[in-house]
Amino acid sequence: MIDLQIQDKTHDEARQGEALILDAPVKADARKLYIESYGCAMNFADSEIVASILSETGFETTGDYHQADVIFINTCSIRENAETRVRNRLSQFGAEKRRNPKLIVGVLGCMAERLKSKFLEEERLVDVVVGPDAYRDLPNLIEQVESGHKAVNVLLSREETYADISPVRLNSNGITAFISITRGCNNMCSFCVVPFTRGRERSRDAHSIVAEARALFEAGYREVTLLGQNVDSYTWTPGALTNPSGERGNAELPNQPNGQVSPTGGDLEGALAGVVNFANLLEMVALVSPELRVRFSTSHPKDITDEVLHTIAKYDNICNYIHLPVQSGNTRVLELMNRTYTREWYINRIDAIRNIIPGCAISTDIIAGFCTETEEEHQETLSMMDYVQYDFAYNFTYSERPGTLAARKLEDDIPEEVKKRRLAEILAKQQAHSLMRLQEWVGKTVRVLIEGTSKKSDKDYCGRGDSGAMAIFPAVDNVKPGEYANVYIERCTSATLIGRIV
Ligand code: 5AD
Ligand code: SF4
Repeated sequence: MIDLQIQDKTHDEARQGEALILDAPVKADARKLYIESYGCAMNFADSEIVASILSETGFETTGDYHQADVIFINTCSIRENAETRVRNRLSQFGAEKRRNPKLIVGVLGCMAERLKSKFLEEERLVDVVVGPDAYRDLPNLIEQVESGHKAVNVLLSREETYADISPVRLNSNGITAFISITRGCNNMCSFCVVPFTRGRERSRDAHSIVAEARALFEAGYREVTLLGQNVDSYTWTPGALTNPSGERGNAELPNQPNGQVSPTGGDLEGALAGVVNFANLLEMVALVSPELRVRFSTSHPKDITDEVLHTIAKYDNICNYIHLPVQSGNTRVLELMNRTYTREWYINRIDAIRNIIPGCAISTDIIAGFCTETEEEHQETLSMMDYVQYDFAYNFTYSERPGTLAARKLEDDIPEEVKKRRLAEILAKQQAHSLMRLQEWVGKTVRVLIEGTSKKSDKDYCGRGDSGAMAIFPAVDNVKPGEYANVYIERCTSATLIGRIV
């Protein structure tokens, strides 16, 4: 599942409720769309697809919902508190609708699928409910609402990947961007609602992914993050049907500019003659340019292969950072979670990462207090953390989600205060590990991609090293955002590296 980038504002909790704003000037006569995204990076990427689809019918985005003709809220169902936040926000939009009865309010994304009838019947302010696979239908659905009807499309698809749609980059720094490579999930982790809200897994046409990366690079972007619930299960066959309109992937092969040599012996044509797996795809995107950094999320411990690790090691521009959610350090709990790996298997994957990519940053997701978890089993999660010494972790208490395997088969029997105490122990340990990991950079020089000026002072730049750690350093005139700089790290806080360009 996707939850990304070390200490990143894109993190699921940190970015909740952030409005996406298009920087382009708004035409006076254009209809205005305000879109607010919750949850994972995939939702943020989806909002960019929505903006692109609606731009075809004359909509431009606005950052001010008081100006909007249409307000969309792109929702998340992963934990109960994500849903609660969305409901509170909807009631605020209700006040706006009373002021402007022509305003259209829509619910998109994961909650749409889960709660369609509830939204339309109980929360009368919602006019349109659209699931994650039905965004192409949005222009029709808006017309339907304008002719006085409520509109719903929450059909999930086995094919939709929006491969042919080039997203309108919203709220963009013009330097880093997300590219979706798969949609949906087939894994059925017992705690997780995603397979129900986002449907079956499907992989997007590899050519369209490479073309999007190349277009971004040509537009000045210098980092792409490939997104999927489980990127390691990416698989695409050239010539396979790629979208609901029945178009086939074109047979054009990606360029191999800049003299980079491929581990397939430069034979991408050969790689493309058969099935493209995630390692092949990573390589194809890395070959767009050595100046384009490639990140990806999320890796699944059961599927991440040595081939992927060797590809990361081979290319300097594929970041040495892997988000590998463990969820629990205990084999019995992992089995109840239906994660399909054991503690030993996970440790084996960590050892492989350490051997093949020395110094690779690793982050994780952990759930505290899953059904029936004992104190000893919780200790095994803590000991796993000691073993791996994660650079970063996203930690949660277990939240039962209706319709999941766990909700149907297991009792949510760990008292809330026990869950919270276990979470606090996990957080405290992680804080110590994060600090220790950052301290390892002090006294070293890190190649940083400058993303812009720091939030606290426009005299400072901020940017990430390869590991994803954020660095802050004094701005200098001859180096600009979007360029790389070598930064000598002088000190760190528990979340940030501090240094100067050398
Ligand atoms: N309760 C708590 N955490 C959950 N996650 C997913 N579902 C739940 C749930 N029901 C966490 C997992 C996943 C991350 C994105 O969210 O750790 O990897
Ligand atoms: Fe991730 Fe498992 Fe949920 Fe799929 S089912 S999105 S692998 S947590």
